[in-house]
Amino acid sequence: MVNLNSNDFIIEMLKINKTFIGVKVLSDVDLNLVKGEIHGLVGQNGAGKSTLIKILNGVYTSDSGKIIINGKLIDDNENYLNPKQYAISTVFQEFSLIPSLTVGENVFLGIEPTKGFLTDDKYIERETKKILNELKMGEDIDPKEKIKNLGISYCQIVEIAKSLAQKGEILIFDEPTAALSYKETELLFEVMKRLKNKGISIIFISHYLDDIFKICDRVTVLRDGRNVFTDYVKNTKLNDVIKALVGYNTYENNYFKRKKIDKSSNPLLEIKYLKNDTANKLKDIKLNVYKGEIVGVAGLLGSGKTEMLNSIYGFDKKCDKLLKLDGKKIKINSISDARKNGIALIPEDRKKQGLILNFSIRDNILLSILDKLMNFLFFINDTNGNKIVNNLVQKLKIKLENIDQKIKYLSGGNQQKVIIAKTIITNPRVLLLDDPTTGIDIKSKEDIFKIIYDFTQAGNGVILVSSELSELIKYCTRILILKQGSIKNEIDCSGIEKNINEEELLELI
Ligand SMILES: Nc1ncnc2c1ncn2[C@@H]1O[C@H](COP(=O)(O)OP(=O)(O)OP(=O)(O)O)[C@@H](O)[C@H]1O
Ligand SMILES: [Mg+2]
Repeated sequence: MVNLNSNDFIIEMLKINKTFIGVKVLSDVDLNLVKGEIHGLVGQNGAGKSTLIKILNGVYTSDSGKIIINGKLIDDNENYLNPKQYAISTVFQEFSLIPSLTVGENVFLGIEPTKGFLTDDKYIERETKKILNELKMGEDIDPKEKIKNLGISYCQIVEIAKSLAQKGEILIFDEPTAALSYKETELLFEVMKRLKNKGISIIFISHYLDDIFKICDRVTVLRDGRNVFTDYVKNTKLNDVIKALVGYNTYENNYFKRKKIDKSSNPLLEIKYLKNDTANKLKDIKLNVYKGEIVGVAGLLGSGKTEMLNSIYGFDKKCDKLLKLDGKKIKINSISDARKNGIALIPEDRKKQGLILNFSIRDNILLSILDKLMNFLFFINDTNGNKIVNNLVQKLKIKLENIDQKIKYLSGGNQQKVIIAKTIITNPRVLLLDDPTTGIDIKSKEDIFKIIYDFTQAGNGVILVSSELSELIKYCTRILILKQGSIKNEIDCSGIEKNINEEELLELI
């Protein structure tokens, strides 16, 4: 274990407990942060990571426990912490940007500089530019641009810029890289290292254990609301963290069989050609998905991966394409065409998934099959519905109290599982997945891919776009490389024992 004492710490959280509506979420959690360290915080979806840091920055109060910041015991009567007073700034998992304001206005929200009686817009612009330059994003993001016009990864960069503008001594990042590409992630890590060298202390929450090992000094693992592991990264093996995280020694690894795909009959989905001049100039897309296949698509940011899925799905009407399902020509010019033909899409941006946050988990899932549940008198068959939902919840291991709980109280990763559940029960033939496991822990990822694998084994097919190379390598029967709107390479992984490795794949990309 680690030999440190109170003088080394900028933050000490001691025996923190938290219960939400009768459910214990944190039990006697200790967490300390050394001055100038990057401390990784990992754990399965729903383990309590976000809750713990929300107690630290005053969004929630704990039921019991102590918080000491810079040697000062936070008074029990101080019913919420003032993060500014303690120089804590946080990049939350859920974005907190205001879409109708500009980048600069968001970055300086709450700390607007004034000139006379007015906000000093020139200063905001200049300083925002400076911070964006530091993030090497000055060329890409205009401080005067409205947030609503930015894509999700740029929004994440703005969130980070916003926390840097607060000039905190303590920075908390709750899964900051989930929406970032490989290049942007590397940039963020450079910035984090620079901040650390300036003496700033950082808590970094992530599901990417490789990143934790790359950037952190120490790592803490939460499991079911308890601190089950804290140590220096240099003394720790990846497997120690995985073991602490899942709670047992090994986890099943032979579920996914690499079967040779039968290509003698018609492909399930045939894309004879697909062209789209508007969206990232898709030029030369031609691909087949056979029954039982997960076809992976890899490519850099801007290669057209998301646009390709959107074009197949009928989001983009200007697209010129010829599709066949089971050998028969199909026309898809709208989402309802896609649904009728058994094609479903799980898009990249979780907020666009149509989860209704104030509805229960049950209703969110059943909404997508309402028509099937209604009897001839338009009554919903409750028993049937509950059975379907409970079954899915069990299969996907969605962590919840009961299915009538509002969806907004689920952890980020568990919300994502609900999205997958409600898509799978519509019984599609072809599932289009756009980075489906963003924000999902390694154990849950395995659970999700079991569902996807079972789905393909029932004679269906999947196109999986992913920025995570290890995921493509592990689960796909073939991997296609998309470059500037054309498919340039195909790697067949079906039936082979030895895999292509990540470096080889990255090289091709
Ligand atoms: N406001 C709330 N009311 C009720 N339950 C809540 C609330 N906030 C969180 N929870 C529950 O507390 C548990 C811990 O959630 P938390 O968001 O801290 O998990 P997490 O470790 O951050 O997970 P993820 O990796 O998915 O983000 C979950 O079971 C969640 O459903
Ligand atoms: Mg969280």
